[in-house]
Amino acid sequence: MTQRPHPTIIQGGMGIAVSSAELAKEVSKAGHLGVISGTAIDSVVARRLQDGDTDGSIRRALAHFPNQDVVTGILDRYFIEGGKELDKPYIDVPKVTLKPVQHALDLLVAASFVEVWLAKEGHDGVIGMNLLEKIQMCIPSQLFGAMLAGVDYILIGAGIPAQIPNLLNQLAQGKPVAMTVDVADTKNKHFISFDPDCIPGLTFPIKRPQFLAIVSSHALVAYLNKDEITKPDGYVIEGHVAGGHNAPPRNRKSKDGEGNPIYTEQDEADLVKVANSGSPFWLAGGYATPAKVREAISHGAQGVQVGSLFALADESGFTADLKREVIEALTNEELTVKTDGSASPTGFPFKVAVLPNSLSDNANYEKRSRICDLGYLRTPFERENGGIGYRCPSEPLKTYEFKKGNVDEAQHSQCLCNALMSNIGLGQLRPDGRRELPLITLGSDLDGPQSLAKIYPQGWKAADVINYLLNA
Ligand SMILES: Cc1cc2nc3c(=O)[nH]c(=O)nc-3n(C[C@H](O)[C@H](O)[C@H](O)COP(=O)(O)O)c2cc1C
Repeated sequence: MTQRPHPTIIQGGMGIAVSSAELAKEVSKAGHLGVISGTAIDSVVARRLQDGDTDGSIRRALAHFPNQDVVTGILDRYFIEGGKELDKPYIDVPKVTLKPVQHALDLLVAASFVEVWLAKEGHDGVIGMNLLEKIQMCIPSQLFGAMLAGVDYILIGAGIPAQIPNLLNQLAQGKPVAMTVDVADTKNKHFISFDPDCIPGLTFPIKRPQFLAIVSSHALVAYLNKDEITKPDGYVIEGHVAGGHNAPPRNRKSKDGEGNPIYTEQDEADLVKVANSGSPFWLAGGYATPAKVREAISHGAQGVQVGSLFALADESGFTADLKREVIEALTNEELTVKTDGSASPTGFPFKVAVLPNSLSDNANYEKRSRICDLGYLRTPFERENGGIGYRCPSEPLKTYEFKKGNVDEAQHSQCLCNALMSNIGLGQLRPDGRRELPLITLGSDLDGPQSLAKIYPQGWKAADVINYLLNA
């Protein structure tokens, strides 16, 4: 089969479910690459089912899942006809561990399938799924679920995704895989295993999607390209102004007055070296104006990956209220986005938009009781007795200390899992009646978003973003 030419615009993957199936589908229908976010998609699907799956889309997608016993297990557990009572909290999904229970795997596979299937429904454009390398224990099952729905591209950043090409090769053949997982406090090797046979009744091979590694430096391109087993099919080169997580600066000690990282020229990728690698690449992070698209192409890039502009589009997962608030602040040129060095439990710098009713306001942060009940950013660690524990810097500090976590580094950690669920209207309700607050991430180069906010002060659609970027 002849391969389609690569797209010019990649709508970047944005978790949790900001780059929704609806958004990715519109980008794909316009002839570019729409990317759904796979991050925490098991919780997203489980919560939408508890809200009654009002448009029926999840059950429509699940009806196409190749094993209906798995589907029955999921619907029995989470689906509530008419939706849960508003004053009741959501039931959580099981946390993924190095030895996950079967239901956790079934749900990860099926939820990834659902989101890709919905994004691909009714057109023949290309769809990608984005994951974070940091959330390693979910990766094999999520890749598989997305592949069952015919995903065309996988894009992974926030770490060094050296194991992914081989995982995709094996899974496409229906072979069991074992992915090395980083476990703290030990030199022992640990793995997460996944066997496609756990979903009975499938036939292989299935399509192997192309893999784009999201990296910040030419050195990582050279490193991953060195060996066929680690070499991706292309790269997104993401600079430090990008929304979401950023690679830390080379000089980790250089910090501003608030302790947040300062980037310099030495943190810029050498684009000549990237172009000379021969791999296709896209530029991301502030490449969100027509001039920047032309600039990227003049460097030899296929095009650009854009996040913030799409995050604010009507079809994105952010709640309408949050989008309105951000677009208004952009129109008035009042929006500040800072690079927070300590907000994310991953330890990576994280872009935070300063908004009054969110956790970016320290008073709101202080009022929240720490709890780690979603647990996607937990790190496994080895106990002295050889057992495996899991810890997250955003959990209660005493618990974190008991688990030998570094409490000094955890002081300002945000619970991104709960906040990001709140960003998309799926925030958890607490026993005291409080609902989890949002925390918005956006890129810090606001040229593109401010220009679009001036053209469309009432908001815009994904197609408007593409027309704007391509100067149509
Ligand atoms: C709301 C938001 C969430 C994001 N989440 C992710 C993510 O989950 N995974 C990822 O690889 N990149 C994530 N990103 C980065 C985007 O995919 C994209 O690379 C980046 O936003 C490009 O920079 P720009 O915002 O200046 O266009 C996120 C960006 C935004 C704005």
